Amino acid sequence: MAEFDIRVRTAEPSDAIGLARVQVETWRDAYVGVLSDDALIDLDEMQAAVRWTRMMGAIAAPERLAVADHDGQVVGFAHGGVSRRAVAKVLGWDGAVGVGEVYALYVDPNYQGMGIGRALLADVARRLATHGFDSLAILTLEKNRHGRRFYEALGGAAGDTVPSVVGGLPADQIPYFWPDLSYLVQRIETAAS
Ligand SMILES: CC(C)(COP(=O)(O)OP(=O)(O)OC[C@H]1O[C@@H](n2cnc3c(N)ncnc32)[C@H](O)[C@@H]1OP(=O)(O)O)[C@@H](O)C(=O)NCCC(=O)NCCS
Repeated sequence: MAEFDIRVRTAEPSDAIGLARVQVETWRDAYVGVLSDDALIDLDEMQAAVRWTRMMGAIAAPERLAVADHDGQVVGFAHGGVSRRAVAKVLGWDGAVGVGEVYALYVDPNYQGMGIGRALLADVARRLATHGFDSLAILTLEKNRHGRRFYEALGGAAGDTVPSVVGGLPADQIPYFWPDLSYLVQRIETAAS
């Protein structure tokens, strides 16, 4: 991880604004040319903060929302839990038990490339493994080459493209999956050591 002190911890209600800020800034940085300009301009931090506040009130294990904290500032977050049915279906895992999913993984553009994304992913993967999950899926935008390379570097296998619409425009997504969650955890730990 980074040389300076970054702590991965459970998100708290007071993190809502930090979560929203990271989400909006990361989208605007990473998704230029991937999503429409209008979709990026329309992002609203206050609305996102309200959504996070509501969502946090409903989070219960095995669902996990973890933040990377640098001196009290949220600089990244990961959110995961039980795999959504649509994702499990596209992977042919519909009805299978023990399938986890990372719904979101974002690191502040100023803090990327320091090991924070890997630490956040490890946190959620370990938490899901503790709750008996044995495989993991992550859906990302097909045009998100940076994110896709990050998952590929950790041994994720790509599934078939899933047609999707974001901000009113087509934005296909692609699932990455690890049939063996313990392999992913081990791979992250080896890479970090
Ligand atoms: C993708 C993302 C979560 C990665 O987080 P990060 O903190 O930048 O990545 P890390 O520093 O933890 O990288 C861990 C390892 O993966 C490698 N890696 C990271 N991004 C990579 C990329 N695009 N291509 C190849 N390797 C990559 C790093 O080099 C590092 O390996 P190393 O320690 O051997 O050098 C982050 O860059 C991000 O938020 N991107 C924009 C949004 C996004 O794409 N989210 C994920 C899809 S929903």
